[in-house]
Amino acid sequence: MARPSVGHRCGACGAGAPRWSGRCGGCGGWNTIVEAPPAAPPPAAPVPIGHVEAPAAPRLATGVGELDRVLGGGLVPGSVILVGGEPGIGKSTLLLQALAGVAGAGHRALLVSGEESAHQVRLRADRLAALSPRLWLVPETSLPGVAAAVEQVDPAVVVVDSIQTVVDPEVGSGPGSVAQVSHCAHRLVALARQRGLAVVLVGQVTKEGSLAGPRLLEHVVDTVLSFEGERHHALRLLRAVKHRFGATGELGLFEMTDAGLRGLADPGQLFLGDRRSGLPGSVVVPTVDGQRPLVVELQALVAPTHLAMPRRSAQGLDGGRLALVLAVLARRTGVELGHADVYASVVGGVKVVEPAADLAMAVALASAATGVALPPDVVAFAEVGLGGELRQVGHTPRRLAEAARLGFRRAVVAPSSPDGPAGLGVSRAATLAEALGGLGVAPRQ
Ligand code: TYD
Ligand code: MG
Repeated sequence: MARPSVGHRCGACGAGAPRWSGRCGGCGGWNTIVEAPPAAPPPAAPVPIGHVEAPAAPRLATGVGELDRVLGGGLVPGSVILVGGEPGIGKSTLLLQALAGVAGAGHRALLVSGEESAHQVRLRADRLAALSPRLWLVPETSLPGVAAAVEQVDPAVVVVDSIQTVVDPEVGSGPGSVAQVSHCAHRLVALARQRGLAVVLVGQVTKEGSLAGPRLLEHVVDTVLSFEGERHHALRLLRAVKHRFGATGELGLFEMTDAGLRGLADPGQLFLGDRRSGLPGSVVVPTVDGQRPLVVELQALVAPTHLAMPRRSAQGLDGGRLALVLAVLARRTGVELGHADVYASVVGGVKVVEPAADLAMAVALASAATGVALPPDVVAFAEVGLGGELRQVGHTPRRLAEAARLGFRRAVVAPSSPDGPAGLGVSRAATLAEALGGLGVAPRQ
């Protein structure tokens, strides 16, 4: 907690003073001003909520567009943000770019590097063209050292990379321990509030998300961002898991390049760029992640097998939903894949776990099984029920609009779906069997 600010008072005449000074403005006495504990505050009076002034939180834009988008415009002075993600995903890169942006806009910015030496950070800054006279660096792991650096530089933003490396010698336990991480985070939050300083804490997360860090700190900070991606893909996704100053639905998209993270304002081409039409097993599905539509290609491959337990592989898809779709295909449409290995994947390193992808998964499997490719300008989305019925999913207009924008001409959807925008025809199907029949990928009787 922030300590309440301590007022000052003249020991001789009793006059109050907002800060210490050598001479009392009241009686003129020298060295009479002393720190005085503040008077106990009067009890707060309840007011109707509508009478409370709603301050517009000022924002400090980082200039990293996709980060500012997720933050709802930028960093809020006095607030604390935790950026979590697995090692190597690009947290240090993202935040160095953000600090450079803040510095480029005329503010002082400070990077506290506990994980990397000053040389390493300098090399990265060269690579990212992030050199600015207002961007300061201190390789530091002690909490008092961090506070001293903040005092000296007086930045608008400080990034602590990472919170797990910071230790307060007054706390007995070692770096990264629950006690240290929690204590240091609380102190940094207090520092942020006192100085109106935006503090960004980097938190390493292991695959299990277990490390003393991000989980532990979620309630302490104002905003929790999660930086994700597949190691072997260049795509990186940034989302707000918690955000006291805005919505949590925004999704930021980046591509990791040789010169750092590049924002993907229009990801459509990244996902569909290398798509080959006329390939059985390929279906395009307009998904929605947070508030953001992402049109992605889903692929299925069906191969005969002699395995007693045929293989089921779901890459970027939910294995449970793949099993459900396979069961519904077998029981409700006659697409029987019990004696085949089945591979289903999403192209481009995205994860699609929403039920809206059920229909596309089923159509991709049927297309792979029959060897019949779909027309190239078709998308499909709907949840598939156990009875083989198709159900409408959320954000349908947004999905249709994005598919139309990317040039698709026809969408296969659930019966209660609204019409799409001009240029995009909507084919409603009540059941999975009907959808497969309409697309020419139903099994031959
Ligand atoms: P880094 O930001 O160090 O990840 P984190 O802080 O989350 O551990 O970046 C990790 C990877 O990103 C590293 O393996 C190299 C790669 N990278 C690029 O591909 N391009 C770049 O411009 C930079 C700086 C890093
Ligand atoms: Mg790092």
